[in-house]
Amino acid sequence: MYRYRTARSVPLFLTALRAALGPIVVALIAALAHAPLAAAEPPAVPDTLAQRIAPCTQCHGDRGQGMESTAYYPRLAGKPAGYLYRQLLNFADGHRRYPQMNYLVRQLPAPYLLEIARYFSTLHPPYPGARGTPLPSADAALADRLIRQGDRARDLPPCTACHGDALSGVEPATPGLVGLYASYIAEQLNAWRNGVRHAREPDCMARIAKRLTGGEIHLIRGGLASRPTEPEPVPAAASKAPPPLECGSLRALDDR
Ligand code: HEC
Ligand code: HEC
Repeated sequence: MYRYRTARSVPLFLTALRAALGPIVVALIAALAHAPLAAAEPPAVPDTLAQRIAPCTQCHGDRGQGMESTAYYPRLAGKPAGYLYRQLLNFADGHRRYPQMNYLVRQLPAPYLLEIARYFSTLHPPYPGARGTPLPSADAALADRLIRQGDRARDLPPCTACHGDALSGVEPATPGLVGLYASYIAEQLNAWRNGVRHAREPDCMARIAKRLTGGEIHLIRGGLASRPTEPEPVPAAASKAPPPLECGSLRALDDR
């Protein structure tokens, strides 16, 4: 009796189980069949400009305005695209050194970098105004003379000759010197003096920085960072006059 009931009930039980579990088993098999495929493919991240620049804006500000709290991370917004692109290539190949920048851009192909450079060059978030405390008036006058007149005796051209009268940069590849932090300006001039930052040869900024004394760099950083800026300065149009010193980075971008 027992055996009979068991013999009859097992197939019945299995049929019931199959009926109940059937859809789940089918789903499981289907899931397993797709599992290797799903594991091999990275999760779909949309390949958009917004996604590519997300890490950048964490340090450079959501509109490339620089980061106030660090008093260092520089403004990118509104700088000529040619200039920004060259800098990204310079970080990628070690001509400029800053570990996070070197690491990030080394992984991106050049056409992406150009697209990112173009994007930041089109942004014009308002300038924060003067960023440093004004220099005492005698120092301010000295700084202004260096910036606007240079020093002929030492073959030191005025900064405005290349960076533009308003120091807002010049197309296609000279950056503005307004809206930057004093510490960033000084660090860049020192990096050129110490051979840590390189622009394309002939590297006019390396020559200029090496002609400045430490005291003059101090004056210039204070003078530049504390000058009032126009609300939205844009780079001046490319100049037809040759620069007072030859600068390799002013050559056409595709001639790299
Ligand atoms: C961890 C913070 C950080 C991140 C993330 C970061 N940057 Fe930077 N970036 C800096 C700092 C700091 C400098 C200045 C380095 C130096 O002293 O030379 C810099 C310099 C630059 C410069 C040169 C600016 C100039 O005026 O010469 C460009 C262009 C730039 N970054 C673009 C980017 C882009 C594009 C990304 C994203 C792919 C990015 N940065 C991500 C911190 C960061
Ligand atoms: C002969 C032209 C020329 C003159 C004169 C000149 N500059 Fe430059 N400067 C450039 C160019 C070109 C660059 C971009 C270099 C590169 O591609 O890295 C630059 C870059 C800079 C930068 C880096 C900006 C950044 O965002 O990282 C600073 C700072 C700077 N110059 C300061 C000065 C100061 C201060 C003076 C005057 C004492 C001066 N420059 C005079 C051509 C010039």
